[in-house]
Amino acid sequence: MARTTLTRTVLAAVSAASLFALGACSSDAGNEPAGGGDTVAADDGVITLGFSQVGAESGWRAANTKSIQDTLTAENGFDLKFSDAQQKQENQIQAIRSYITQGVDVIAFSPVVETGWDAVLQEAKAAGIPVILTDRAVDSSDETLYESFIGSDFVLEGEMAGEWVAEQYDGEGYKAVELQGTTGAAPAIDRKEGFASAIEGTDIELIDSQTGNFTRAEGKTVMEGFLNAHDDIDLVFAHNDDMGLGAIEAIEAAGLTPGEDIKIVTIDAVKDGMQALADGKINYIVECNPLLGPDLADIAKKVLAGEEVEKRIVVKDEAFDQAAAKEALPTREY
Ligand code: AHR
Repeated sequence: MARTTLTRTVLAAVSAASLFALGACSSDAGNEPAGGGDTVAADDGVITLGFSQVGAESGWRAANTKSIQDTLTAENGFDLKFSDAQQKQENQIQAIRSYITQGVDVIAFSPVVETGWDAVLQEAKAAGIPVILTDRAVDSSDETLYESFIGSDFVLEGEMAGEWVAEQYDGEGYKAVELQGTTGAAPAIDRKEGFASAIEGTDIELIDSQTGNFTRAEGKTVMEGFLNAHDDIDLVFAHNDDMGLGAIEAIEAAGLTPGEDIKIVTIDAVKDGMQALADGKINYIVECNPLLGPDLADIAKKVLAGEEVEKRIVVKDEAFDQAAAKEALPTREY
C-alpha cells in the first residue's frame, strides 16, 4: 500500500508494554508484565492479535475488514481474534477487556467514537499489552496509551472535497446539504471541519447537516428529509460513498437527476461509489484507503520486537473525477 509518513513527530515507542511483549515472545519466559498483570504472551513466534472492528456499516468497512483478515493470517505469523462492535462503543470496550483477560500479545482497534477510551486503555497498559489504533483516532491527552495510529487524514479529506466544490461552483450561490458520519466519530468530526474551512469565503451555503451514520439506508432516509424540507438543494456532501448512494436513491425517487439537478460529492472511493461516479450520478470522490492490514501487521511485529515505530502513520489518499474513475475502475481493488 502506498503511504506517506507526514510531519507529526516520530516518537520512539519502546514502552514498557512493548518491552514486556518482546521478552514474552522470545524464549525468555521469566519476564513479568510491566504493570504486574497476568498476561502470558505466546513464545512460539505466533502473534496473537485481538482486533475490535467498528462494524459492517459500509463498503469501506467491508474492504478494511478483508484487508485485516487477509493479512493477519497464520501464514504471516498471526493468530487473529476478530470482533465486530456493531457501531457500539460499549461492545468495543467489552471486546478489549476480553482480549486483556485472554492475554493477547497486542490489541488493535478502530474506535467507533473519539472519546471515552482512557479507562480501558489504562487497563491494557497495566496488563502490559500494547495497543495500535487503526483508521480512527482517540481523543486522549495521554499518548502513552497506544503505540501507533495508522489511518487517513480526515480533515484533509474534507478539505479536498470542499476545495473541489469551491473551484467548481463558487459564484453560483449554491445551497449545500451535508450527510455526516456517525456522531462523535473522528471521520465525521474531521471531514465536517475540513469541508467547512474549504468553502469558507465562497458563496456556497451549507443549509442543513445531519448524521446518516455512514450507512446507505440512513443516508437515503436523511436525504428524503432534506428534500422535503428544502426545495433549493444544489449539492450534497456525504461523508462516505454509502450515504451518497442512499442520497442518489432518494433524489431519483423525488423525480430528480443525481449528478445534474443535485451534485454529489463523497468520500471513500469504494467500487460502488466509483461506478456511480463513472455513471455521472456522483460528481467527485475523495479516496479513503481502507487497506490497512499490511501496515498493521508491520507495526505489530515491530512493537513486539521492541523496535521504534512511528506514532502517526498517515495513509495517502487520492481524489477522482468522472474520467479518473472510469480509468481506475477496471483495476480497483475495493
Ligand atoms: O472511518 C472510516 C469511515 O468509516 C469510512 O469513510 C466510512 O465508510 C466508514 O464507515
